[in-house]
Amino acid sequence: MQIVKELLDNRASETSSRPSIHALDAICGGNFFALASSHTDLWKTGKKLIGPFMTPNAIKPRIPVVERESLQLLQDLVRSPENLCAHIFRFSLSSVTTIVYGERVTTHDSVYSTEFSGYLEHFLKAISPESAPVDLIPLLRYIPARFAPWKGVWKETGLRQRRIYSSFFEDAEREIKSGRRSGNFIETILNRQEELGLSRDLAVYLGGSMLDAGTESTSAIVQSLILCLAQYPDVMKKAQDEIDSYVGDGRLPVPGDIDGLPYVQAVVKEVHRFRTAAPTGLPHAPTHDLEYRGCIIPKGATIMVNVWAILHDPGQYCGSLSIFFTRNSIKILDHSELFECPDTFWPERYLLNPNGTRPGLEKDYTVRTSLHFGSGKRLCPGMHFSNTLMGIVAMRLLWAFNFSPENGSAKPHNTLDIIDGYTEGIAFAPKDLKCKIVPRSQEKIDIITEYYDNQNRKI
Ligand code: HEM
Repeated sequence: MQIVKELLDNRASETSSRPSIHALDAICGGNFFALASSHTDLWKTGKKLIGPFMTPNAIKPRIPVVERESLQLLQDLVRSPENLCAHIFRFSLSSVTTIVYGERVTTHDSVYSTEFSGYLEHFLKAISPESAPVDLIPLLRYIPARFAPWKGVWKETGLRQRRIYSSFFEDAEREIKSGRRSGNFIETILNRQEELGLSRDLAVYLGGSMLDAGTESTSAIVQSLILCLAQYPDVMKKAQDEIDSYVGDGRLPVPGDIDGLPYVQAVVKEVHRFRTAAPTGLPHAPTHDLEYRGCIIPKGATIMVNVWAILHDPGQYCGSLSIFFTRNSIKILDHSELFECPDTFWPERYLLNPNGTRPGLEKDYTVRTSLHFGSGKRLCPGMHFSNTLMGIVAMRLLWAFNFSPENGSAKPHNTLDIIDGYTEGIAFAPKDLKCKIVPRSQEKIDIITEYYDNQNRKI
């Protein structure tokens, strides 16, 4: 953690670039904001637009979006709990498309939802090193397309990506120009496009980068939340007791309630620690040759943070080492023990100490609970929106349902096992999540239906 602080936070202006990822360039033509180098116009302009749009104050008017989408999630789970993953994906996608494009995705089997989830699956496979390790073996780049099947996959993924991004963008642009939609991210882009000299292509991809970065991560962490609740009934019960005494049975929890629910807040923090959605974050790269603790880290080298290891630091063995490959040596630095019983889902740790770390480390200036959102100048701009969203959805799911492992299923139960129970790839989510979801009372079902019908009358 100290190294993250020293290298990526304190020296952010030197270490907030990205290494080159050939597959990504081939797919997006260098237009992808989240992985663009820090010296590019794309990243500099994108930051000017995204940063102010996602500050804690700027996201306040977007809270009703999360209220509406989380209410629909409850209603969907009452009606067809067997489609759990599809409902969570719709909730995540629609929350992001509404703030970015002003357009909702109202059903889990809509064209937008199925096309986008198909595309994401393709995209994550296409850029994973297992598909073709072109960054490790650059020679692979020069193999003719007919002998290199991965080049066909890149092309197909790029076409799908452009189709989806353009379709969302053009709809939003039309509606904004006709005065029927406002307050979304595309409007912010269009208002400043000329002033910032942003091409139409980059504008389209900027919206798309937000869509990709926000949807998969949100869906992964909501799925992990539900899996943890199902696997840890005592935690679920304690959080429900807190909600029951603060909110009661007679109304749905509203966004302001979260401030009165410290245990629910601790549950959300613990899910981020215990099953973080981005276990290795995204790679950083130095903008020039960098001296650090006697090593030279060359310009453009890949710096990965083993977020998982830090958040599960057991201290008993060298589980969280940082390894630097320098020009003529390998340097290994180890860390100290941070979390008590790191492999136990134990939200109480965040009530004992705001950082969740073991007693005595309260004043450790290097620790921060936002580690799973990245570091330095690349710290996730969606962080405040995501925290608000998670608070609302956690309160409402706990208020409405009991979750437990599914019995009698033909498939083995989902487990928290990270090898067999979780997906591989950039966003880390339970594999094919299934669990038993039972509404906590008929009264609660009636309240959900009443709020939902009222909401639909207003739209
Ligand atoms: C569970 C929720 C989320 C998690 C765990 C998460 C995590 C991350 C991480 C680890 C990074 C890379 C940071 C780094 O390089 O140091 C990142 C970047 C980013 N995230 Fe998020 N994120 C989440 C939600 C969102 C949402 C909801 C949005 C927007 C709607 C969003 C937009 C972005 C963007 C645009 C970047 C690229 C920033 C840049 O490269 O400068 N994220 N996120």
